[in-house]
Formats: sequence, C-alpha cells, structure tokens
Amino acid sequence: MDNREVVNDKVKPYKKQDSKTNQLREMFNTISKDYDFFNNLMSWGLAHTWRKKAILWLKGSDNSVLLDVATGTADILILAEKYLQPQQIYGIDISEEMLKIGRTKLEEHHLSEKTVLEVQDCANLQFKDGSFDTVTIAFGLRNLEKLSHSVEEINRVLKTGGKFLIVEVNEPQRGVLAFFYKIYVRMYVLFAARLLSDDKDAYKYLTQSMHFFPQGKALTEILTPLGFKLEKYKSFTLGVCSAYLFEKTN
Ligand SMILES: C[S@@+](CC[C@H](N)C(=O)[O-])C[C@H]1O[C@@H](n2cnc3c(N)ncnc32)[C@H](O)[C@@H]1O
Repeated sequence: MDNREVVNDKVKPYKKQDSKTNQLREMFNTISKDYDFFNNLMSWGLAHTWRKKAILWLKGSDNSVLLDVATGTADILILAEKYLQPQQIYGIDISEEMLKIGRTKLEEHHLSEKTVLEVQDCANLQFKDGSFDTVTIAFGLRNLEKLSHSVEEINRVLKTGGKFLIVEVNEPQRGVLAFFYKIYVRMYVLFAARLLSDDKDAYKYLTQSMHFFPQGKALTEILTPLGFKLEKYKSFTLGVCSAYLFEKTN
C-alpha cells in the first residue's frame, strides 16, 4: 500500500475553523429534508438513472453482504435490493438526519428488517476486516475529507476480490459544454438556495466541490496504489457523471 495521504479539504461548506467532516455533518443535517428534491433538480432527474446503470454492473458478482458508504437517504440500498438481492445490507453515513429519511424510505420498501443503517465516518469504519463482498458509494466520494485513508478503510472491510463501485458527478473540463455548465451551475445555485432554504452555502458547496475533485484517470491513479484494480469505467450524460467499478486486489 502507498503511504501518501490524499486529503480532500480544499472546499468546505462554511467559513469556519471546524473540520470538513464536521461541517458536512452540520450541512447534511440541515438540508436533509430537501436533499432528494435538490439532487433530482440538480441532475435533471438523472441521478436515479446513473445510480441504477452503475448498480446493474454488479449483477453476476457475489453481492451477498453489501455496504453502501455515505448512503444518505438510502437510494443505492433500495436499488441494490431490487437488482442484486444481497443477503445483508448495511449503510453508513455521518449525518443522522439523512439516515432518518433513509430509514423511512426503507420502511416504505419493506426493507427495514434486512438493513442496518448506522452513523459512522468512512475514515473509521466499525467493521471487521473482510466483512463485505461489495462496497458502493454514490455522490459521496468527493465529500470524504480523508480521501486516501477512507479508501484504505473500504479496502480493509472488503474481501479480496470484492467489488468497489463509485458513482460521482464531474464538472465538464473543456469546451462549450464546460462554459455553459458553469453558467448553469451559478444560476442553479441561486435558484436552489432561494427555493429550498436559506443555507446558500450548502448549495454552493455541493457544486463547487465538483471543481476540485479528481475524475477519470486521476481518480484511478489514487485508488490503484491503495489496493484496487479498475475493471470498468464509463461516463454518462456528456461526462457530467462517471461510474467506476474496482476490484480489491490486496
Ligand atoms: C451528496 S450525499 C450522497 C447521498 C447518497 N449516497 C445519494 O446517492 O444520494 C453525500 C453524503 O455523504 C455523507 N458523508 C460525508 N462525509 C462522510 C464521511 N466521512 N463518512 C460517511 N459519510 C459521509 C454526507 O453526510 C451525505 O449524506
């Protein structure tokens, strides 16, 4: 394993001294009731399609015990149950308020008994080594403050040969799309902040955090020395979202 620590704390929600993780806990607790609506609005309703396309990549693998990291309001867990039927399902997140909404949704889908949702930080997972066949994370990786340390934790709790599926949004880098996307994001942030709540900082954070986060080859180069091999990569909708399927090698 590589000893270089990759810290992902250039963009934080608020102008405070507190750690990014603590600020994110506060932010997601504040916006939890609006999160699903906001996420759909921001992705033109495509977030569900992107999650589903990526989850379907796991069909045919052993997904008996599955963990969704930064599970938020539990959408990945609902899709995993529908398409992969794991025997046991776990979800962790730092925000209790996001998990509360997730619990309600799991109840509506009659999944409460099969699912364990817990407040945990990905940088310090409370599971034994090799507990999971599959780990997933959707729109969560760019939020992880201790990025390489968190990925090492994911590696630790996965079985060798286990799958790690990532879905993450990207900022288009070049060309006409990048130009219009920046204008769209600014207008959107103003609109969302007015419509949904007065926590303008939260909506700014969610869009600005895309700007600094590595994508494609750069992200793969962070994960490879941490014990993962890329099996599949695809970007969706003109590169606005990407999915990566890694296998744990050691
Ligand atoms: C953008 S939301 C994504 C929620 C969900 N996965 C989805 O598909 O919509 C990001 C989530 O990451 C969580 N999060 C941020 N830092 C975390 C950490 N260090 N460990 C676990 N969860 C974290 C937040 O609380 C939030 O619920």
